[in-house]
Amino acid sequence: VKHLLGIKYLNEKDIQLIFETADHFKEVINRSIKKVPSLRDITIANIFFENSTRTKLSFELAEKRLSADVINFSAGQSSVKKGETLIDTVNNILSMKVDMVVMRHPNPGAGIFLSKHVKASIVNAGDGAHEHPTQALLDSYSIREKLGDVGGKNVVIVGDILHSRVALSNIFALKLQGANVKVCGPRTLLPKYIESLGVGVETDLRKALNWCDVANMLRIQNERLDISYFPTTREYTQQFGVNKKLLDSLDKKIVIMHPGPINRGVEITTDVADSQQSIILNQVENGVAIRMAVIYLLASKIK
Ligand code: CP
Repeated sequence: VKHLLGIKYLNEKDIQLIFETADHFKEVINRSIKKVPSLRDITIANIFFENSTRTKLSFELAEKRLSADVINFSAGQSSVKKGETLIDTVNNILSMKVDMVVMRHPNPGAGIFLSKHVKASIVNAGDGAHEHPTQALLDSYSIREKLGDVGGKNVVIVGDILHSRVALSNIFALKLQGANVKVCGPRTLLPKYIESLGVGVETDLRKALNWCDVANMLRIQNERLDISYFPTTREYTQQFGVNKKLLDSLDKKIVIMHPGPINRGVEITTDVADSQQSIILNQVENGVAIRMAVIYLLASKIK
């Protein structure tokens, strides 16, 4: 496989290979060896048509830790603003002898489209409300690290499932590894096809939390929201926000995750986000090792 366009195109063995490779890189980083010479002859362009903090920086760091040459492109400061197309933009970048493109784009399927029209290896860093494969990989990797295994675990994804690429990629990844998955949120923010993905639906947050081992709390995607779908923020927080009181009243201690960025006080309170039960910053840390693994494995196909 030359591209990583979505979890949909992976199988369970691919995921295990990525995790074992990430284990190796994490161990190397933990020994304070922050750079390995693996990709000295590879050049990677990170092209971002949407804002990002975690994904952009951790891809860049992962690439630099593998000794790749890295160039960064933000659409907002580029000739896209003068009307240049996606394919022209990427082909111009590739003519500078770039081997791999990491792309975030607001349009679902943008990475798939690009992979059919340009010669480079494409890594999807989030395409609209479609997929965010490296986020799902680092999420499952973090569950595996915390609980020993993903298979057999009960995972609930809470929030705006309708607009969330993190939710879709997580559902695919968790199901491939044998986890039991439920989604929880207002009916207006659940896609109609959700049950066809083999996940349970729960609209009562307390019930969902009492069922799960892990709760992945998602942000409301205000930037993709048709306002008519939405309960008010206050209503949302009352029904679907996690706070310390609710967490402490559950039958068991569950693991709290969030892909970031957090809207503190909306989907999650500060005392939960920063609690011992939260692995939010572990997810961010693991993002570097996972992205090193993905890039390393894809580069071996193009070398
Ligand atoms: N989790 C995530 O994709 O965060 P960024 O949008 O900051 O990259």
